[in-house]
Amino acid sequence: MSQESNNEKPWGGRFNSPTNEFVESFTASVHFDRRLFRHDIKGSIAHAKMLSSVGILTFEESENIVTGLESIESEIDQGKFEWSVALEDVHMNIERALVDRIGDVGKKLHTARSRNDQVATDIRLFLRDQVDAVLEGLSSLMRALVDLAEREAGTVMPGYTHLQTAQPVSFGHHMLAWFEMLARDRERFIDARKRINVLPLGSGALAGTTFPIDRQFSAQLLGFDKVSENSLDAVSDRDFAIEFSANAALLMVHFSRMCEELVLWNSQQFSFVEMGDAFCTGSSMMPQKKNPDVPELIRGKSGRVIGHLIALITLMKSQPLAYNKDNQEDKEPLFDTVDTIVDCLKALGDLIPSLVVNRDAMRAAAKKGFATATDFADYLVRSGVPFRDAHAVVGGAVRLAIEKQCDLEELSIAEFREFYPAMNEDVYASLDIDNSLNARDHFGGTAPSQVRAACLRARDRLNK
Ligand code: ARG
Repeated sequence: MSQESNNEKPWGGRFNSPTNEFVESFTASVHFDRRLFRHDIKGSIAHAKMLSSVGILTFEESENIVTGLESIESEIDQGKFEWSVALEDVHMNIERALVDRIGDVGKKLHTARSRNDQVATDIRLFLRDQVDAVLEGLSSLMRALVDLAEREAGTVMPGYTHLQTAQPVSFGHHMLAWFEMLARDRERFIDARKRINVLPLGSGALAGTTFPIDRQFSAQLLGFDKVSENSLDAVSDRDFAIEFSANAALLMVHFSRMCEELVLWNSQQFSFVEMGDAFCTGSSMMPQKKNPDVPELIRGKSGRVIGHLIALITLMKSQPLAYNKDNQEDKEPLFDTVDTIVDCLKALGDLIPSLVVNRDAMRAAAKKGFATATDFADYLVRSGVPFRDAHAVVGGAVRLAIEKQCDLEELSIAEFREFYPAMNEDVYASLDIDNSLNARDHFGGTAPSQVRAACLRARDRLNK
């Protein structure tokens, strides 16, 4: 990046002496906000067209500016553009390049505009694109989960509470639980998009402009649903970015939970799933190792996204109206948040279809740990035993099975009758894991037929 002297800065007019060299680089943002170039140019083109539509610029002037901006965009695309730290940020770099390219008419672009409404516009345009990319990634991941759920609707696994075997559930049902977490994340991003998609341009530095601008015209060109209501608010608040970041943090928390389970299930102790070789790496020392790096890394990356949310919300705190330079600090956390969640969406979206499900291991695990003890108690309740008494009867039987190191269904009817003299032979049916699963046959339940119906609804919701 090149250096420029102070009197060449767009705001250099009222300054006598040059900026301190350290301050110049300390206050500059071009090394990261240049990433906004496409959105900055898009916003500037709309602004130039609007200025000519209301007669502030002639049609020729605006055409000239648009052509100049387009050629700058392709120069940046080709990596030929020379960014200057002295020109501080993406906005002034592009504006200066425009003047260098098309002459004095380029100096008219900034009429009725400030970098404050300009940058607010850029971030909103950028974030709107990112939300759309996130929604696309989310949809394909969610589709992969429904595919898996449909295939494994009848696969029984142990359901856990406190990571202790609790009751049998369908593996498909478990996949749909993940789907529900992501469905809410998806709704949150869709909802945040409404508040992102509002045009700040026209707010000027803080108090609007004396020129007869047409903000609706710019909004239409840029695809904004609305024009901001208040100029002070529009240049200053970054709540839309905080909201995006909060949604991203929640998404990553959900990912961390999913990944934690994948890591556990992929271990030798569980062996419920096997991840494709393409998603694992080895150890430089232990030849036998195949490590689930991808889910571990996603789990770990939740930290940075949560951290960025804290950074963003804290930088906004206590800022007086209107724009303050604090807001320049919004970009790096936001960019990294976007990159991280887009990458994690891709990684998980590819990983899920590669999972090999070990149905036998899940079934064997579901048979251990007395997973059908509640079904046993429910069976007694249906025979007229109050639930608390039934709970005690089953507790006694479990204690005996633990002593004998056997499963509940291996106890004899005589042994059961020690705890409940009227015990009938059909008690054994209540201990069967498939019966247990099939019996939970209600909306939201884990019976395979319910899981299949939920898959159909899930697909329907994705298509809306
Ligand atoms: N680089 C600045 C930012 O990211 C652009 C706006 C600066 N405005 C100002 N008056 N210094 O927020």
